[in-house]
Amino acid sequence: MGDNHNLSDYEAASEEFSWDDIFAEADWEAPGDLNIAHEVCDRHAADKDRVALYQVSEDGDLTTVPFWQLAEESNQFANLLESMGVERGDRVFSYMPRIPEHYVAMVGTLKRGAVWGSVNERFGPEGIAYRLADCDTSVVLTTTDNRETVAEALEDVPSVEQVITVDRGDGVPDGDIAFGDRLEGAERNYETADTGGDDNALLYYTSGTTGPAKGVLHEHRWIAGVAATQRYTMDIKPGDCYWSTADLGWLTGPINTLGAWFWGATMFTYEGEFDPAEWAELLDEHPITILFSVPTAYRMLRENESLLDDVSLDLRLAGSVGEPLSPGVVTWGEETLGVTILDTYGQTETGNFIINNYPSMEVRPGSMGKPIPGVEAAIVDPDTGEVVEPGETGQIAERPDFPCFFAEYWEKPEKTASCFVDGPDGEWYLSGDLAYRDEDGYFWFEGRADDVIISSGYRIGPFEVESALGEHEAVAEAAVVPKPDPERTNIVKAYVVPSEGYEPSDSLAEDIKTKVKTDLAAHEYPREVEFREEMPKTVTGKIRRTELQDLAQAEAEAGDD
Ligand code: PRX
Repeated sequence: MGDNHNLSDYEAASEEFSWDDIFAEADWEAPGDLNIAHEVCDRHAADKDRVALYQVSEDGDLTTVPFWQLAEESNQFANLLESMGVERGDRVFSYMPRIPEHYVAMVGTLKRGAVWGSVNERFGPEGIAYRLADCDTSVVLTTTDNRETVAEALEDVPSVEQVITVDRGDGVPDGDIAFGDRLEGAERNYETADTGGDDNALLYYTSGTTGPAKGVLHEHRWIAGVAATQRYTMDIKPGDCYWSTADLGWLTGPINTLGAWFWGATMFTYEGEFDPAEWAELLDEHPITILFSVPTAYRMLRENESLLDDVSLDLRLAGSVGEPLSPGVVTWGEETLGVTILDTYGQTETGNFIINNYPSMEVRPGSMGKPIPGVEAAIVDPDTGEVVEPGETGQIAERPDFPCFFAEYWEKPEKTASCFVDGPDGEWYLSGDLAYRDEDGYFWFEGRADDVIISSGYRIGPFEVESALGEHEAVAEAAVVPKPDPERTNIVKAYVVPSEGYEPSDSLAEDIKTKVKTDLAAHEYPREVEFREEMPKTVTGKIRRTELQDLAQAEAEAGDD
């Protein structure tokens, strides 16, 4: 069956792989001459029937954007930027929903040779202001319904000279550039900036689960990296309809969208927020063959699986990134979605999902899989840069020589330098994530280095405990953190959102503890279980363990009084 996939033999492909082969797929002489916008859009425009994007609005209306139209409108947007005085390398940031204009602007900005960034709409004025000011953005693109929030943010961002606003019915305020009107009048041809692989292209801020967010800079060569993942992991084929639920305000959005467009694939997007009933309907109504989302969304679909009962699914592949995907969810996916959800691992810094599962490779549920061909990754001792033995915990590290590896943290050379360690046989980039590798080369995530729990002298990775908790039928979501304890340094404390139909009680807490103690290990089970209605999350859906940790810490301190 492996023969039907773009990557039919993982081991052979890893040996033979050369990035030159991906660059050779580009239209221009890459990597010397390379512009993402040209490669993902203009070269597919000649085929008039080829669809770039199906977009469903919150009201359920479908808009179809063929590549020729994306090419033309992004030309107009590039002309608009040029007429506004936006120069190569200037930063253009968006703050808006998943509407066709958003995609047009992303491609148009890259055509102009400017640097594209985006802030997710769940951020408030402070979060927006921090990011825009940090990189001296010149232009912001938004919608009338977001305009007040942006105005508040801009009070603290002197660098922004102009705001481009998409009219969503309220009328564009005086002084703003009206997206629709100005695009209509703009020239439909544009000579794409003659950038090369080493020119700046994207600036995305880290999720900031620990510490202030940092701007991660990527160059045009990034496209080769993401194209490889889309080909080998997501197995993109002509005729696919690919729903990546990720917003453009998170790098996963561009990774999937631009990476898939490199191959001329059709993307699907939904403007609204996550809603299990709505998602079930979309999966039913549209011929979606590839679904890419985050563990939280899959867990919530599992919680509401009856919604999928009468849904006719066209899925042939599903993927996940951003958080650990527990084995129970993988098994559920096989039974209910009819596909094995492929876990993938990456960071804004790695620019891509780089340790992944592949449709033709045996999946070990709970494992993130193996490095993509072309990326050398290992588990290393962060102090010495030495590769540790299979089964031993260390930091996930990569050789920083692949195309989608970041260029730098924006204007933070010391922060950038601090991510690297010189090992006995060369330099490694340290991810800050802990994992081990089994004898067969599969990577198993254990937790962020900062999240590790030290209890009675043991180092406990939260993910294993959370996975074991997730296997209990009464547990919808779980997160574990250290709670300071005089005898054991810390105990493991679990916060649990109960599944529907289960009421929090002491006996349920005991039952959950006992199950983890028997299934997993006596030293790792949570000595305390507290029920919550929901988990605190970052805008990208990651559980904010730091917030829970603060709660546990405060509780321990209060207990001492
Ligand atoms: O801790 C890892 C976790 O998410 C972090 C990166 O987040 P972000 O920069 O938002 O990147 C998104 C992808 C481009 C990592 O340092 N993470 C990501 N994937 C996984 C994961 N944790 C466990 N399993 C994964 N598959």
